[in-house]
Amino acid sequence: MAADAVTMDKIVALCKRRGLIFPASEIYGGIANTYDYGHYGVLLKRNVIDAWWQAMIGDRTDIVALDSAIIQHPRTWEASGHLAGFTDPLIDCKTCGQRFRADHLGELQCGRKPSKHPGETPECDLTEAREFNLMFETTIGPVKEAGATVYLRPETAQGIFLDFKTVLGFARKKPPFGIAQVGKSFRNEITPGNFVFRTLEFEQMEMEFFVPPDEAQQWHEHWLAERLDWYVRLGIRPDHLKLRPHDADELSHYSSATSDVEYLYPIGWSELEGIANRGDFDLTQHAQHSGEKLEYFDTASGQRYVPHVIEPAAGVGRTVLAVLCDAYDEEEVAGEQRTLLRLHPRLAPIKVAVLPLVRKDGQPELAQEVFQALRGQLQAEYDEGGSIGKRYRRQDEIGTPFCVTIDHQSLEDRTVTVRERDSLAQERVAVDELPAVLGGRLVAPWQTPKLAEA
Ligand code: GAP
Repeated sequence: MAADAVTMDKIVALCKRRGLIFPASEIYGGIANTYDYGHYGVLLKRNVIDAWWQAMIGDRTDIVALDSAIIQHPRTWEASGHLAGFTDPLIDCKTCGQRFRADHLGELQCGRKPSKHPGETPECDLTEAREFNLMFETTIGPVKEAGATVYLRPETAQGIFLDFKTVLGFARKKPPFGIAQVGKSFRNEITPGNFVFRTLEFEQMEMEFFVPPDEAQQWHEHWLAERLDWYVRLGIRPDHLKLRPHDADELSHYSSATSDVEYLYPIGWSELEGIANRGDFDLTQHAQHSGEKLEYFDTASGQRYVPHVIEPAAGVGRTVLAVLCDAYDEEEVAGEQRTLLRLHPRLAPIKVAVLPLVRKDGQPELAQEVFQALRGQLQAEYDEGGSIGKRYRRQDEIGTPFCVTIDHQSLEDRTVTVRERDSLAQERVAVDELPAVLGGRLVAPWQTPKLAEA
């Protein structure tokens, strides 16, 4: 792949063209960088989340799952520090009327002259920075004024801390052990942007790992290595990933040490996931505010302690975006431009497309038979509309690893052509052997030839 083949604009265009991800509320002109996922986007996103659950609770026995509420008791956010401290510095420009994050001015564009940063033109009239809380507020009860103010969660993590005691009671685990959850979080970001990189609502995949205090450092290192490796196992090129420790002045109010997994997006190295050592901050805060003891009593040693927490916190949208950017490729084949997603088969929304060469001569009937045999085993798609070239291009652009084509020979000898997305190699396979052949290839260690050479 040419080093500069992928740009954010190309990813946005492909996602829209193929219905993976597109602007929400589009018939009303869209809303504040909010996106909807279409069929293939949902399947891709679901595969990312499944891979995360597999790493958390399929491959390990020391983590349990949770699905906590989005709206929690409002005192949660007093205790967690979000009410007081989950703020960004906001600056208004009185000339263009736009709002900017004071700490991002260098990356933002002036409202009047997009070639300049805010404050760089003589007309810019910026206010002093003031702190702006990122939590979305709403009200419980039919009468706004008389109702209780509550918040949409800005992170899934707090639900885990609130349920720590309950889970400890029924999960039959002792530290070190983890509680994992996936769900939506909401932040009233001042400057959302860069497609699904920063949005107002987004899904997080978070795991709080509770450990004896003297093991915190060692477990932090364990999770740094584990999480970096997870992205490599999703097929992302290792040289597009790195760990970056936070400087002391970047640390969140709860963290004593954090490192981000960063990905080399087309916008430059940016955060994909944060892995924090939260110490005993959250359990201690919630114990103080709720009056409940949130600690662990080790009957064997007679020791009572507040576990420390190591937290790998990943974003679903940012992972989907990284996977798309990393898989995007363009090449020329027989004088024609081909765009494709070299997705790891595990993540590909569709694993195999079944295509009759023509819509006659019994080919659709045999193709349907093949499709029905495969679809119970793999995410398969049947497509008979348009020229075969167009149908291949469509599957290439959504990252389908294999296309199975039924042609006139298929009706004579019950063999079909299997076309491989990355190498474009084609081979004939007997219809009856197809499920086994494709099944084997999809679970085999995967190498994307072009990218491996890059
Ligand atoms: N519980 C810790 C926590 O929420 P964070 O670094 O603020 O930490 C974790 O968020 C991850 O959630 C980020 O690394 C990112 O992947 C994702 N994320 C955070 N804010 C986001 C936003 N506005 N849009 C999309 N993803 C976001």
